[in-house]
Amino acid sequence: MIPTKKLVMIPGPTPVVRSIQDQMARETVAFGDPEFVKDFSEVIADLKAMWRCDGEVFVVAGSGTMGMEMALANTTKRGDNVLICSNGFFGDRFIDMCTKKGLNTDVISAPWGTSVTPEQVEKKLAEKKYQVVTVTHVETSTGVEAPIAAIGEVMKKHPEVIYIVDGVAATGGVEEYMDTMGIDVILSCTQKVFGVAPGLTMVWASKKAMERRASLGSIPESYIDFDKWLPVMHDPSKYWGTPAINMVWALKEAVRIMKVEGLEERYARHRRQAAMVDDAMEAIGFKVAAEKAHRGPTLSVYLYPEGSGIDDAKFRANLAEEGAQTAGCLGSFAGKGFRMGHMGNIDKHTLVSAIAAVERACVKSGYKVEFGKALGVLQKGLVTE
Ligand SMILES: Cc1ncc(COP(=O)(O)O)c(C=O)c1O
Repeated sequence: MIPTKKLVMIPGPTPVVRSIQDQMARETVAFGDPEFVKDFSEVIADLKAMWRCDGEVFVVAGSGTMGMEMALANTTKRGDNVLICSNGFFGDRFIDMCTKKGLNTDVISAPWGTSVTPEQVEKKLAEKKYQVVTVTHVETSTGVEAPIAAIGEVMKKHPEVIYIVDGVAATGGVEEYMDTMGIDVILSCTQKVFGVAPGLTMVWASKKAMERRASLGSIPESYIDFDKWLPVMHDPSKYWGTPAINMVWALKEAVRIMKVEGLEERYARHRRQAAMVDDAMEAIGFKVAAEKAHRGPTLSVYLYPEGSGIDDAKFRANLAEEGAQTAGCLGSFAGKGFRMGHMGNIDKHTLVSAIAAVERACVKSGYKVEFGKALGVLQKGLVTE
């Protein structure tokens, strides 16, 4: 047998299509190259328009975690109060980050598999003055989608508070409209729904968020300071830190793909795709960990069927051997299931291969599923796509 192609079905990085790979493989030019400057400016303008941002967009080399820090660094000062809405592992990541920055935190924690509600946020905001609220849009440890628009309605009643949305596992695959949803900062990165390799952080900051940044004066951070990057974002021939040139090209191609598909269709496709994959997995006894009302469309946590005797580590090793790389679960779900991404530029071939690999891994792991049962369900969905 020739080696099996590795499908990256972890919840990010996601498969990178050829045309995006080609951009990463281009001969690197000077960051002042007029063509590159034009390309970078166009990416920024597109990101701003597509997410309906009335402020500024920052595209900086780094991972999603840096985006989280960048969002906080530019909207808070030591001693500020931050309300963290956490639906799991990545929501919790804000806690330590805030504590290290000398911010006071209150945390609303949802039981794993469910989400913080707008009512809980409303109650907290009525009790105390906060400078910032953070919400993780799709929580990658549970597959839960937070009600960003409904929380946004609450936030609109508190215009003095900055609404930060961690869109690392959501942006480009789940609806995020900064204007109508009242979002002040979205942070995301390239390796999830954008379908680019890891490497760039994108931060959208509303006019209100930029006013907050201005009110802070000088901040202790340097690399992630909006003020340092703003001249570059307005004119990419300027220098602050060397831009990741090939990654910017790759992002530009990812944005082009999004524009061709259309963002609205992309959001709808992600919901259809998620429902198909979840149905297929349920057909062979797996349980989707996120409660139905809170299921995000970009990834799922699949809990092993009761009594299946599946050993977590062996199953995922078998699955990887069969060609689909998936991730182990975290926190409350650790050892009880696996996490699979179904986001980005993934096509029918990818989905079929991933589910077929799951069926083979089940049988290899001693859990006897009928071949084609999950695939059949998926196929029924795909045929009308
Ligand atoms: C929701 C969410 N936020 C933040 C992060 C951190 O991003 P990164 O690993 O790129 O630093 C992740 C990573 O998976 C994530 O899923």
